[in-house]
Amino acid sequence: MSNTCRMNARGSLMVSGQVVVKNAAGAVLYEGDKTWLCRCGQSGNKPFCDGTHKKVGFAHEGIAAPCATVELGAGPVTVTATANGPLHVTGPLTLVGADDKPAYCGTETWLCRCGQSANKPFCDGSHKKVGFTA
Ligand code: FES
Repeated sequence: MSNTCRMNARGSLMVSGQVVVKNAAGAVLYEGDKTWLCRCGQSGNKPFCDGTHKKVGFAHEGIAAPCATVELGAGPVTVTATANGPLHVTGPLTLVGADDKPAYCGTETWLCRCGQSANKPFCDGSHKKVGFTA
């Protein structure tokens, strides 16, 4: 089973496949085949989505510059919520935008979870400027 992350319009990152989510200390918070991660920065249950993006009017449409797809190996994808920073993704993952076009295809990346990156879905360091804590 390949691992996929869907960047939902004005909402979460839905990760499916063989998925492991860890906190910054390395503790496993989730292990399974589908989960929803916060990308607006406002969830009360970070790193998971709790629907707060609707209340706060998170406006990103979930579309990014498309990329070429490459053949990825099998195996789980691990998403680590770094301290006060992005989601560190290791393992094979294809990320598609809300327009169904691939925006990332690889085995290591950092995804924004503060809601402030100008280069969503990727972290651009804005979490430091805005003082994101999680
Ligand atoms: S986590 Fe949002 S810019 Fe880094």
